[in-house]
Amino acid sequence: MLMQGKICLITGATRGIGFVTARELARQGAQVILVGRDGPRAAEALRQIRAAAPGAQPEALIADLSSQAEVRRLAQDFSGRYPRLDVLVNNAGAMFVRRRESVDGIEMTLALNHLAYFLLTHLLLDRLQAAPAGRVVNVSSASHSGARLDFADLQNRAAYQSLTAYGQSKLANLYFTYDLARRLEGSRVTANALHPGFVASNFGASNGSLYRPLFWLAHRFAIPVEKGAGTVIYLASSPAVEGVSGKYFVHQRAVRSSDASYDREAAARLWQVSLEMTGRQEAQPR
Ligand SMILES: NC(=O)c1ccc[n+]([C@@H]2O[C@H](COP(=O)([O-])OP(=O)(O)OC[C@H]3O[C@@H](n4cnc5c(N)ncnc54)[C@H](OP(=O)(O)O)[C@@H]3O)[C@@H](O)[C@H]2O)c1
Repeated sequence: MLMQGKICLITGATRGIGFVTARELARQGAQVILVGRDGPRAAEALRQIRAAAPGAQPEALIADLSSQAEVRRLAQDFSGRYPRLDVLVNNAGAMFVRRRESVDGIEMTLALNHLAYFLLTHLLLDRLQAAPAGRVVNVSSASHSGARLDFADLQNRAAYQSLTAYGQSKLANLYFTYDLARRLEGSRVTANALHPGFVASNFGASNGSLYRPLFWLAHRFAIPVEKGAGTVIYLASSPAVEGVSGKYFVHQRAVRSSDASYDREAAARLWQVSLEMTGRQEAQPR
């Protein structure tokens, strides 16, 4: 089996794209560790994976990834149990209709969709480097197109618009991926990002009654979650992308992302701000 013996940590694995990714990697023989924020939902996901992949021994770790203390605890829990990490899938993400702040006082979209990817990857880099060919897979979105980061107001304090904040966070995923790949050049760890397609997951379902009709209407044009997880699974497991790094994939193909996403100065600036916002000092990943 393709992923036999590989250790894979998948965030947002209690439903949607993350769940299907975890289940399929388990079916390919991987030891999957699901990250969920809710115990009973994680237990149900484990049950479904065991049923779909007999012999698999999936595990779950619980963390609300919008909290940096919980991201730190998660990384510690993982590192205490596993000597290496073959694949890290940063997938958990959301869109917030109204501006909210995390327990750390950071606007939620930025905290969950970008800073959690950034911090968790940093904290697990030594485990990824201990693997023969560690892979970081960052789930971004085509919504990054047209987005720009306003470094004077990264948290959209002046004017908040959910779609704008979401697009910015998905652009941040690309800045992070491209910069990480550059910093990891010469190591055995690769980093890639992807757009899963417009997927009929639970995404946006909790955005309140205002958006509900739009949510159901949009679902009529969306692809099934099984298909949406395809590029994530491909980047996590395919031998075809062994050694490939710093790319953006759609439909399992490396494609060009927006012009803005290749702005190295903005990427470096975001990296520095992200270090500061997560209380980290070092300029390079360990
Ligand atoms: N759906 C699309 O059309 C689409 C398109 C482009 C990109 N994406 C990206 O794909 C990724 C996955 O989205 P999806 O479509 O699978 O959405 P989903 O069905 O809503 O699943 C999101 C997952 O993230 C978890 N999550 C949310 N907030 C969390 C938190 N604070 N801490 C820990 N986990 C949290 C959820 O946990 P619970 O089960 O506890 O809610 C769930 O498992 C996201 O990064 C999204 O931006 C989706």
